Amino acid sequence: MPLIEWDDRRYSTGIERYDNQHKRLFEVLNELHDAMEEGRAEEELGDTLRELERYTEHHFSDEEEFMEGCGFADDCSDCFFQHQEMHEEFAEKVTELREKHEEGEYITMEVLEFARDWLDSHIAGGDQDQSYGEYYDSKVDDYDYDSHDLDDSTFQ
Ligand SMILES: [Fe+2]
Ligand SMILES: [Fe+2]
Repeated sequence: MPLIEWDDRRYSTGIERYDNQHKRLFEVLNELHDAMEEGRAEEELGDTLRELERYTEHHFSDEEEFMEGCGFADDCSDCFFQHQEMHEEFAEKVTELREKHEEGEYITMEVLEFARDWLDSHIAGGDQDQSYGEYYDSKVDDYDYDSHDLDDSTFQ
């Protein structure tokens, strides 16, 4: 049974690029969860933690560049800085967990629960990942509106 299942209604940002990156993160967790159920989590955990560190670094900087590039970071700098801070906190926690694991602690469940809950609230929490999706969506609507000549339907 997967630990966390993708659901468009709950998790989609409306931007395929980021949805795909989020799906990849879900996959990493689900693979570790499978390994745990099959009794080989200890072998997998080190790789999973390194993969989480590596992939989230790429994902977070990609998201942050997007938020800057589309105007979101300028329109709401507080939202942007708060978002960036959440990314930093996650990255620090994953590094901390990797070190714990290297010291021999058994922390598979802690990793799974922490990462699942964090991703769930960070993506679906409304004020985080979905907020740049909504912002972008509203810009695209504006753009579409501006790029079309007024026609009769505008006055109905
Ligand atoms: Fe994200
Ligand atoms: Fe994010």
